[in-house]
Amino acid sequence: MIDLNEHNITDEVIRRWDACKDKRFRELMAGAIRHLHDFAREVKLTEDEWMAGIKFLTAVGQKCDDLRQEFILLSDTLGLSQLVVAQNHSRPAAATEQTVFGPFWVEGAPALKHGDDIANGAVGDPCHFNVKVRDLDGKAITDARVDVWHADAAGGYDVQDPNWSMATSKMRAVFRTDPSGGLHFWSVMPACYPVPTDGPVGEMLRAANRHAMRPGHLHIMVQKPGFDPLITHVFVNGDQYLDSDAVFGVRRSCIGDYVRHESGRAPDGKTMDRPFYTVDTTVTLARA
Ligand code: BEZ
Ligand code: FE
Repeated sequence: MIDLNEHNITDEVIRRWDACKDKRFRELMAGAIRHLHDFAREVKLTEDEWMAGIKFLTAVGQKCDDLRQEFILLSDTLGLSQLVVAQNHSRPAAATEQTVFGPFWVEGAPALKHGDDIANGAVGDPCHFNVKVRDLDGKAITDARVDVWHADAAGGYDVQDPNWSMATSKMRAVFRTDPSGGLHFWSVMPACYPVPTDGPVGEMLRAANRHAMRPGHLHIMVQKPGFDPLITHVFVNGDQYLDSDAVFGVRRSCIGDYVRHESGRAPDGKTMDRPFYTVDTTVTLARA
């Protein structure tokens, strides 16, 4: 077909996938082409704007390496990651909701014992975390693998230190739930922090006059054969960024009840002579 114009080019481009044997690939490409073309028509995209978009996406790709995934950050800050998570993990209302994974989980975190302090010298007020893992009937799920990781009082993850190694990791650990389906540990109180802004996504946020902050949170990943694996957060109640998380990850069911104590006896019986926090949270898994 020749003499294509801005109105009939879309159908012809999609038709070029007619011989494609992979039906899903064809469906994905047809949808992407249709929406891209509609976008260009709707906003009357100029050539300068098209080039600016190409340069932006090039810079996003160039910022990626083994440790930095600027495309995922772009997807996160455009709300696409949370949309994909939400539509792929619809669960019964009583189950804990799935949220974005984020870039700071690392394979091989230390397997620690209940009651251990995972902070390993990180800065912040002590915080005692008590986690119960339950099924939809409220029954304890024993021997589940529970990964936890979070940022310190300055909003930093251990892996953001250029000298990081797993041998000196902080604020991350793997636990197994006990016969009561529980686990508990000490760490420091997680603070709010910005997603990385030293790349093109940061430029995009600044140009949009958007902040880059995430409310303080603990990440938690729970795996047990026979159950849908769960990746979620325990957000800090009252955090000023709960309503405007830069990556759109906050669900009401994932806000924890972090309580501040000036001093006194902690839930594990330890006597604290300085301010500390406690949080008690239940995560509910759905069957696979
Ligand atoms: C995080 O919570 O660790 C995170 C999530 C998405 C983008 C950046 C950080
Ligand atoms: Fe995080």
